[in-house]
Amino acid sequence: MLTANSLTLWQLTRALPGMLSGRRRQRAVLRAELAALFGVDVSRIGLYDTGRAALRDLLSAQGVGKGDEVIVPAYTCVVVPNQIPALGATVRFVDVCAQTLGFDWAMLEEALTPAVRAVIVPHNYGLACGVPADLRQRWPKVAFIDDAAHGFASRQQGTMLGTGHDGAFFSFEYSKNLSGGIGGLAIFPAGMTAPARDLPEVSCLDQWRLLATLKGHLLSARWPLLGRLALALYRRLGLIYRSSDAEVSEGAPHPVRAMPLLSAVLVREQLRHLPAILAHKRALADRYRAALSAVPGIRLWQEAAPGDCHWVRYPFALPMAVADKAAVARRLSQACGLNIGVWFDDVIHPAGSWRHGYQAGDAPQGERLAATVLNLPMNVAVADNAALTARLRRLTAELTRLLKENKA
Ligand SMILES: Cc1ncc(COP(=O)(O)O)c(C=O)c1O
Repeated sequence: MLTANSLTLWQLTRALPGMLSGRRRQRAVLRAELAALFGVDVSRIGLYDTGRAALRDLLSAQGVGKGDEVIVPAYTCVVVPNQIPALGATVRFVDVCAQTLGFDWAMLEEALTPAVRAVIVPHNYGLACGVPADLRQRWPKVAFIDDAAHGFASRQQGTMLGTGHDGAFFSFEYSKNLSGGIGGLAIFPAGMTAPARDLPEVSCLDQWRLLATLKGHLLSARWPLLGRLALALYRRLGLIYRSSDAEVSEGAPHPVRAMPLLSAVLVREQLRHLPAILAHKRALADRYRAALSAVPGIRLWQEAAPGDCHWVRYPFALPMAVADKAAVARRLSQACGLNIGVWFDDVIHPAGSWRHGYQAGDAPQGERLAATVLNLPMNVAVADNAALTARLRRLTAELTRLLKENKA
């Protein structure tokens, strides 16, 4: 899987000496840079080891606690609902809308009751949406918190995603728009400030693991064989960083920790190149859109004004549900040489995760998306050139064959 979306090996190497100035300084400068980018006061910026930790602090700041309910989109990653029971609150899933990949606002409003204290608003794949102003006015006690984990620097009608509602969180995990290995950002709503306390630190060994894992991914993006060898070696040495298994299989909450120094310097390095990164990805998205819209039956999400969406990966949906989406992704990847992804492979991703009470059939649209949506890489390592044209031609040919087979 091609990850580290926006980071290059050169940038990784360039950023490392910055670690010498220490974590407090690097985090302080990053907070100031992010505040300037989002046009908010620096006191509203919180930095964490993950997006999920940022979510937990946002929910706490909104006073979510025992007896409260929190609405979560039924098309998300398990680490999002995991943070809610830890606060004494209850998870309630609400189906998403296939047209927008976000909520159907009328359906969401039907699910609101006085017990609901917060709604996690999805911006899946980076496609930003705005909660209707009249809905927010009718429910003034409900905090609408943006899950902007997939949409760093996306915009909603010209406004930076994450600044329009009651707080937002972003992720800098390997595969997200900007990669710090891991990392999270919270933007607290106007009138609130990020808690000023010293958070527990990610261990030094785990930062070495992050560095090794990132390096393995970056090598794989350029030289697949070398990357595979490096990753195999790091695995043998116990140097691969991953979330705890209990978070996926038991729904365990993730602790709130500080952003690692390594992540801070890497995110800062990518911020310096943000305009070029966004321009490159816009060009990729245009190429993907042009190629896929020529295949009848393939669904795309084109509503975002060009340039407004910083896609984390570029989603497209098959017209039919497939039992083994991973096998289809492999077939398409082999045919075209592009890495076709399967996010999300279940209403609560990844498949096999803790269900938080979700029953099959509760969210038909989320289930349909999980069975039909595939995605293309939005990665700076994918060049916009003649080779991409050839790969996209092979992809559309294989897709056309696949759809024919399913009609027969
Ligand atoms: C939609 C969504 N929200 C939140 C997260 C959590 O981000 P992090 O891994 O930084 O905690 C993820 C992915 O992991 C995600 O896909």
